[in-house]
Amino acid sequence: SSTVVTGIGRLVTCAGPDGDVPVTDRSVPAAERLGVREDAAVVLEAGAVAWVGPAGDAPAADRRVDVGGRAVVPGFVDSHSHLVHAGDRSAEFAARMAGEPYDGGGIGVSVAATRAASDDELRGLLAERVVAARALGTTTLEVKSGYGLTVEDEARALRLAGEVTAETTFLGAHVVPPEARADRGSYVDLVTGPMLAACAPHARWVDVFCEPNSPHAFTGEESRAVLVAGRDAGLGLRVHGNQLGPGPGARLAVELGAAAVDHCTFLSDDDVAALVDAADTTVATLLPGVEFSTRMPYPNARRLLDAGASVALASDCNPGTCNTSSMPFVLALAVRELRMTAAEALVAATVGGARALRREDVGRVAVGSRADLAVLEAPSHEHLAYRPGMPLARALDL
Ligand code: NIG
Ligand code: FE
Repeated sequence: SSTVVTGIGRLVTCAGPDGDVPVTDRSVPAAERLGVREDAAVVLEAGAVAWVGPAGDAPAADRRVDVGGRAVVPGFVDSHSHLVHAGDRSAEFAARMAGEPYDGGGIGVSVAATRAASDDELRGLLAERVVAARALGTTTLEVKSGYGLTVEDEARALRLAGEVTAETTFLGAHVVPPEARADRGSYVDLVTGPMLAACAPHARWVDVFCEPNSPHAFTGEESRAVLVAGRDAGLGLRVHGNQLGPGPGARLAVELGAAAVDHCTFLSDDDVAALVDAADTTVATLLPGVEFSTRMPYPNARRLLDAGASVALASDCNPGTCNTSSMPFVLALAVRELRMTAAEALVAATVGGARALRREDVGRVAVGSRADLAVLEAPSHEHLAYRPGMPLARALDL
């Protein structure tokens, strides 16, 4: 059945003025691709956008939803989250606020709690987290494994993730688990062998925490082995790179044609040049909620954007470095701390996330794209940064 959404005070399509800029077209600057329409209506049918135009011209539909003059934007595409986990690390956060650095060691605490949790506990926690993300406007959500780190526990995390999203990512190479510390090589063999074999059927992507600056994470060569094995198993590639210090992650991602390299906090000039050259292939995903919660310096978004790299914003929602799935919060940080314009931030959180997931069907409001709308308790998307911490965005439920 069809639904016409009316009473849209301002519609931001992120699809250009004529609604026809593909998600993958980077030639149109953020401010131009916003596609702002006043007094618009949208018709949704069979889970997709069927019509976009002036409210006065809207065709008849089975149902009418009036959003009362609010702004409507594409639902957020959160291309990076770690929602399958149990346990609590608020003490680690408090210690960090008192001066402790983050080095990834706390991941072991979440691994122990996640292994100990039943399927139903994990399923319940995951379901609550998905509801919370959607309640703040997220309509596409990537979910990683990475707190199991055994063959069975990683496969379980991906089966559960697959119950809530198609964007599932195998992150067996999150850290070397405590029991394998004495023999990193055999853990990499496990990840690239039996664990990958058990997980690949449940995953779309493979990811690795490439971070020579953490004793718990993986070197460039270890990361390469994980990514190549994942690619050979048919998975798309994503990388956690350059989070805690300079490192090989960004260039490895570019070299192997990964869809995204995420964090990008410590990039050299060569890294930026490589990301600019690879802008049609590899997205630099910024996760400023992490720097907020770790007291690390924020990534330099302006350097990437001004040089022509492809940039996305995501939450990285996880129990260690950023325990929020709020994309409005991420947008506010992007505008205030990363000096992105409100338009750049919105495009990065929608179109950018879609590019990072190689999806053409989400991230904008255009005929044929998925019926994923976020309604703002505000007259424009600028209010997301202007009124930080306010619950201004929600996914439109039909
Ligand atoms: O993306 N950096 C590695 N992984 C997560 C943090 C995981 C954790 O601390 O639990 C991240 O920041
Ligand atoms: Fe992450």
